[in-house]
Amino acid sequence: MSDPRPIGIFDSGVGGLTVARAVFDLLPNEPILYLGDNARFPYGPRPLEEIRTFALEIAGYLTERDVKMLVVACNSIEVAAIADVADAHGVPVVGVIDPGVRAAVHATRNHRIGLIGTEATVASGAYQRAIAQTGADARLFSAACPVFVEHVEAGDTSSDELLEAARGYLVPLDEEGIDTLILGCTHYPMLSGLIRMVMGEDVLLVSSAEETAKDVYATLRASSLLQAAKDGESGEARLEFLTTGDPAQFRRVAHHFLGPVVGGVAPVDVRVVEGVSWS
Ligand code: DGL
Repeated sequence: MSDPRPIGIFDSGVGGLTVARAVFDLLPNEPILYLGDNARFPYGPRPLEEIRTFALEIAGYLTERDVKMLVVACNSIEVAAIADVADAHGVPVVGVIDPGVRAAVHATRNHRIGLIGTEATVASGAYQRAIAQTGADARLFSAACPVFVEHVEAGDTSSDELLEAARGYLVPLDEEGIDTLILGCTHYPMLSGLIRMVMGEDVLLVSSAEETAKDVYATLRASSLLQAAKDGESGEARLEFLTTGDPAQFRRVAHHFLGPVVGGVAPVDVRVVEGVSWS
């Protein structure tokens, strides 16, 4: 059995590329169709109901493009809509919160875990609930870091302004004595150098990307949806990038973070699926 259909991965912008990269590294034969909703970025400050509407539009669009599974590579979308996305589209759906929590709970030694994310993610309490579900006896200390994503989307990982914002968000968490910090927004692994500078080497940074890739693999395997390697070939899969925003800007930023795996980027309007306008 071999299923050549692509895996659909989506986010409000370039953040989900951290997850796409991990999936591509683990499963080089799997075609990926990545969609960034850059025109409506950022999602973090929006009401959950609005994020849910956007998520269903994107999932609907990707399903029309015949993806074999959906990866919600955005914490803010996951807290707003992952159950609805799963109900509406009939393909397996994988998110990023449980994988990140799993890794953090496994890693912490002092049971004091930090979480940084968007306003939507932090306010939802989803990480608190996910930690409780593991049965782990750990305390969670959270901080929303709203300006981080704007800098990432602009390709900035090291300006003075960003460093100052990072200190403002992170020093109070450091003072709580956490030994593990969950990067609870898929944009944040792109700032891990800067975050590490502020937090120091004693705090472990947890990105959900690699753990999520393992879930993608396990889900494809369990559903017999893997694409078999062609004889003597590997890493030949197609990566397609779509954005609702400016393709040139998306390409510039994506190339900065991912290098040459980013080829063409096509513009897309997810509100129009086969002549049906969602707005
Ligand atoms: N990458 C998204 C997340 O993981 C958030 C970015 C945004 O605010 O749009 O939450």
